[in-house]
Amino acid sequence: MKKIILMLVCLPMFVFACKGSKNVEETTVTPPSSITKSSFGQTRDSIAVDMYTLKNENGMEVKIITYGGIITNWTAPDKNGKYEDIVLGFDSISGYMRGSPYFGALIGRFGNRIAKGKFSINGQQYTLAGNNMGNHLHGGLKGFDKVVWKAEPMEGKEPALKLTYLSKDMEEGYPGNLSCTVIYTLTADNSVKIDYSATTDKETIVNLTNHSYFNLNANQGTILDHMVTINSDKYLPVSRTLIPTGELRPVANTPFDFTTPYAVGARINDTTDQQIVFGGGYDHAYILKGDGKLNLAATVVAPSSGRKMEVFTTEPAIQFYSGNFLDGKLTGKNGVKYVKRSGLCLESEHYPDAPNQPAFPSVALKPGETYKTSTVYKFSVVK
Ligand code: BGC
Repeated sequence: MKKIILMLVCLPMFVFACKGSKNVEETTVTPPSSITKSSFGQTRDSIAVDMYTLKNENGMEVKIITYGGIITNWTAPDKNGKYEDIVLGFDSISGYMRGSPYFGALIGRFGNRIAKGKFSINGQQYTLAGNNMGNHLHGGLKGFDKVVWKAEPMEGKEPALKLTYLSKDMEEGYPGNLSCTVIYTLTADNSVKIDYSATTDKETIVNLTNHSYFNLNANQGTILDHMVTINSDKYLPVSRTLIPTGELRPVANTPFDFTTPYAVGARINDTTDQQIVFGGGYDHAYILKGDGKLNLAATVVAPSSGRKMEVFTTEPAIQFYSGNFLDGKLTGKNGVKYVKRSGLCLESEHYPDAPNQPAFPSVALKPGETYKTSTVYKFSVVK
């Protein structure tokens, strides 16, 4: 009896292992949607990295690798129905391991910055890596963007990939064994939904996100012509080292006002605004409703390609980063040089430096609780 049960449990895994090994169509989803698996090389310590390709019935494709849970390729239709890649990235694993600015990656345990890499829980101080101008950025030296996640395609109508990672107690200086799950789902309406969840065995802090850089002109040129709307009337001004000052500043009458559509480039060089100077452009958290429902946070339209992206999130903030630190030194997919502002990020998140700012929504996670957030990137066209 035991043997039969074991066979029934193992059979689906075995079937996937065989089908998945050579780019073969997987049948756990309703055709013509599919999930296929291929090899994407290995890490420096010889851990195999797999790539999963999720495809929906419209032909939209999202490629995810187990290293960093990185979205390496993501296609979306233009006004003529042409599906092209709209995210920055590299052709091979070496590109991602050689100092990627978090292209497409899952970020954890803490997205964005923690001042001086220090925070306390119940009187106990923790020290994290000061990997960015003395502050802690995106989870540290080996954050969730640089670990290999376990992947499991999910059964169902829509192609979905479940990634899991156990971050051990004190990994990168954070307390608690943190068990994380991220599910990427590609839906029939050309959306990618990202569901994050985590549990811990000791009180800790969590702030997970995805760091895709979008260029809706199929990665040609800069994003300065992209029209951005952000559903927010306040943002977090920062210090010179990009730590929030604690103020929630109204966007009205500033270059930060995207309550109506503005081209990214229209006011990005307005150096009369000190925050533009500190960010080197836009690199700020915008305050959202954060009522736990999937609310529209931002819309991006590229007028020449007609591609439109809407971002919905349950999170209380979204980081608008206009790719200011890209400098043309990185060569990405198809030999494209990633010049300054050739991609933009809209990272759903809790407020940066929240562990040190009691007035900000809490990022604490206690044993017995489940961290749960969702973000959706939805693509359509405007003619
Ligand atoms: C941060 C930027 C940083 C970029 C890449 C963004 O989330 O806000 O300041 O340069 O990530 O590391």
